[in-house]
Amino acid sequence: MIHVNQLHFTYPANKNETIKGMSFKIEEGEVFGFLGPSGAGKSTAQKILIGILKGYSGSVRVMGKEIRDAGKDYYENIGVSFELPNLYNKFTAIENLNFFSSFYSGAKEDPKQLLEMVGLEQDSQTRVSNYSKGMKMRLNFVRSLLNKPELIFLDEPTSGLDPVNMEKVKGIVLTKKAEGKTIFLTTHNMNVAEDICDRVAFVVDGQMNVIDSPRDLKLRYGQKKLQVEYREKNQTKTSVFSMEGLGNNKEFMNIIKFKDIERMHTQEARLQDIFIKVTGRAIT
Ligand SMILES: Nc1ncnc2c1ncn2[C@@H]1O[C@H](COP(=O)(O)OP(=O)(O)OP(=O)(O)O)[C@@H](O)[C@H]1O
Ligand SMILES: [Mg+2]
Repeated sequence: MIHVNQLHFTYPANKNETIKGMSFKIEEGEVFGFLGPSGAGKSTAQKILIGILKGYSGSVRVMGKEIRDAGKDYYENIGVSFELPNLYNKFTAIENLNFFSSFYSGAKEDPKQLLEMVGLEQDSQTRVSNYSKGMKMRLNFVRSLLNKPELIFLDEPTSGLDPVNMEKVKGIVLTKKAEGKTIFLTTHNMNVAEDICDRVAFVVDGQMNVIDSPRDLKLRYGQKKLQVEYREKNQTKTSVFSMEGLGNNKEFMNIIKFKDIERMHTQEARLQDIFIKVTGRAIT
């Protein structure tokens, strides 16, 4: 679906490159996440993929076509939501969706149903100027689905959403994946990446460090740990051990043999820790 090779990009106003040689492929039906801290170049990469920023070097092929040569028909086949909602404030939600819908010539979704999907049906006649940030985000999100696109680009789709709405948006992304759509998204939310992405790319300073499924990243870089809570001198103490070579760990064996154990549980490696380990950078 997407084939990027040695992508470089410098904003005309800047001296330094923002995208410094990215190569990756995204398969049809995949949810692919760009994961990285603020300023990493995630939105810039998305803007290149959707054909807004053209002066790149290297190759960006989407659905078999080099993006710098793509014409207007490209926009018939993709759905886009930008990180900052670009909506008409004086229009109501439904007017916004009807207006954007009129740009497309093919089959379209029913705007009312889209609003229902994100819990905005009661506010369909409300002007967007009276919407909260989270409401605008949800409207901006469903706008990307209007033209029933095969390929959907979502820049920070869950940013600014409360937990309930975050789950809703994640659920919709997974439904679209089940329908066979391909989804490219950017996020700095590790949980979102873990829950819905088939593969993630760690992006820092315009470069990609690794690409893999969250599960395989955990297997490859994560250390499984065991937390043991036990009684000692009338107090509860907690120790954490690496699962590797546990049988030869004297301290652990001593606790098992001589202490009164209260609780023991394994801790999975967290994507957040792996990100720091691999990139040397925190993500927030
Ligand atoms: N229009 C622009 N002109 C010049 N430089 C820009 C422009 N837009 C972004 N940049 C620079 O490019 C770099 C990457 O920005 P980008 O918006 O792609 O980051 P991001 O990973 O999406 O960050 P965030 O998580 O904050 O959205 C930043 O250093 C930013 O200052
Ligand atoms: Mg961004």
